[in-house]
Amino acid sequence: MTAARHRIEVMHGVNLDQLGRRDPLLYGTLTLTDLERRIAEQAGALGLQTSFFHTNHEGAFVEHLHGLGTRADAILLNPGAWTHYAWAIRDALEIAALPAIEVHLSDVEHREPWRAFSVVSDLCLATVSGLGPDGYGRALGLLREHLDGEGS
Ligand code: DQA
Repeated sequence: MTAARHRIEVMHGVNLDQLGRRDPLLYGTLTLTDLERRIAEQAGALGLQTSFFHTNHEGAFVEHLHGLGTRADAILLNPGAWTHYAWAIRDALEIAALPAIEVHLSDVEHREPWRAFSVVSDLCLATVSGLGPDGYGRALGLLREHLDGEGS
């Protein structure tokens, strides 16, 4: 019998649907659709299954986290600017109680000082930032290692 594939919920927050129009030096040139396709390919190569969610509405992001229940084994999230101040998203991530990794396309540690703080980072297994789209591949690899370890 083959083991069920780990299910990763990939969640993008505010303004990330504008990728492709945002500063390419910070965020690259891929649209969110391109990025999600790339993430799905990278996940598939690692034997992971992905579902995608994006919203510009904080409450919808929170409610999506509430509704995850047992539909996902782990979360990969890029909350956009909410990262830096949206405490309700932090609380909802805590309620979701799933292993999570935070990803940022840009190097948030070395931009404006307010971007260096994250409300979710201490709930996450890791934060990957500044690697552009490759950061998602790195995060998927870390999640796979973690989930494989949980099952052994
Ligand atoms: C971002 C970094 C945030 O500071 C910013 O507000 C974003 C995108 C990133 O992926 O680099 O919208 O999360």
